[in-house]
Amino acid sequence: MNAARDVKIAYFDNSGRDDKRRWWQDCLTKRLGPCQLVPLEDSAALACEYALVWYPPQGRLAQLKDLKLIVSLGQGVDHLMADKSVPDGPSIVRLVDPDMSHALSQWVILNVLDYLRDGRYYRENAQQKRFEARDQRQTKNLPIAVYGMGAIGLVIAQRLAALGFDVSGWSRSARHFPEPIKSAHGKARFDALLASCEIHICILPLTPSTTDLFDAAAFAHMKKGAYFINGGRGKQVVEADLLTAIRAGHLDGACLDVFAEEPLPPQHPFWQEPAITIWPHVAAQTNPDTAADQVAAAISAAATGAPLSNLVDKSRGY
Ligand SMILES: NC(=O)c1ccc[n+]([C@@H]2O[C@H](COP(=O)([O-])OP(=O)(O)OC[C@H]3O[C@@H](n4cnc5c(N)ncnc54)[C@H](OP(=O)(O)O)[C@@H]3O)[C@@H](O)[C@H]2O)c1
Repeated sequence: MNAARDVKIAYFDNSGRDDKRRWWQDCLTKRLGPCQLVPLEDSAALACEYALVWYPPQGRLAQLKDLKLIVSLGQGVDHLMADKSVPDGPSIVRLVDPDMSHALSQWVILNVLDYLRDGRYYRENAQQKRFEARDQRQTKNLPIAVYGMGAIGLVIAQRLAALGFDVSGWSRSARHFPEPIKSAHGKARFDALLASCEIHICILPLTPSTTDLFDAAAFAHMKKGAYFINGGRGKQVVEADLLTAIRAGHLDGACLDVFAEEPLPPQHPFWQEPAITIWPHVAAQTNPDTAADQVAAAISAAATGAPLSNLVDKSRGY
């Protein structure tokens, strides 16, 4: 992009690993020419026009006075929306990487099929050396609701439909999803999906209107024996209410990749609940090899004033 001097990009992720920064630097250098990914905490970052970040320390981006563009290192941007000091000036773009939708749909399918085929029951039996069958459940008897039908949710819904499930998708605005997926939006349809589906998959962005969406009332609306999967964000769930619904025997269980507090604290009651499967926020991890094209394109566009793709609507929060 700029043969005269290195492109300097302020960089932060919350992994504490420097190899990721170097991996991004290599990927972006291949696409933009010489690039320096400057750790966001360094004083040299203060002069950067571009930032590539994941959960940056609150208040730090506001100190970068020449910032033109903030790129989220993942598809979610709640980490940026939560920092009220992030200035309005710079555009915010997020990654929309088919590799991420692919990975997240694998994780959902793995866990939906484990539920369908009574994985937990057979694992527990194997520990007791019990060789006993349960009647096999049928996909057509387990309607699924996918809450959040964006870049990731639509892929999940299409792949589950291809496996023979009866799938409904829930979005904010009225949308028409490809057959055979049923389309739903709005509060009334939310309650209807809670009441009619057996498996509930959340892949929503975290915004004020999705915070605490899955609370005691939502779990009470679900059928007895329903199963809940969350790959969105932990704060979309009132965790104590989920635990109560499971311990009361109303829900069959849950599979969670995201939590209100991460890492999930050792004393958290979820660790003690066998009906909850815990994953450490790994359903889909950002892959610089596949995502770097978009980051490079966003930086080139911001440098020339060209239109940006995957721009975040700050008023909507996603
Ligand atoms: N666990 C992981 O490893 C992992 C990895 C990547 C992403 N994620 C999570 O997945 C989320 C979704 O990513 P994405 O790229 O698919 O997002 P996206 O393309 O922006 O899609 C968001 C979807 O959610 C819907 N939505 C937003 N607010 C809503 C509301 N109040 N009521 C109903 N529907 C609402 C949107 O409706 P409209 O279609 O009407 O706009 C859209 O269908 C991310 O924000 C992140 O939290 C998790």
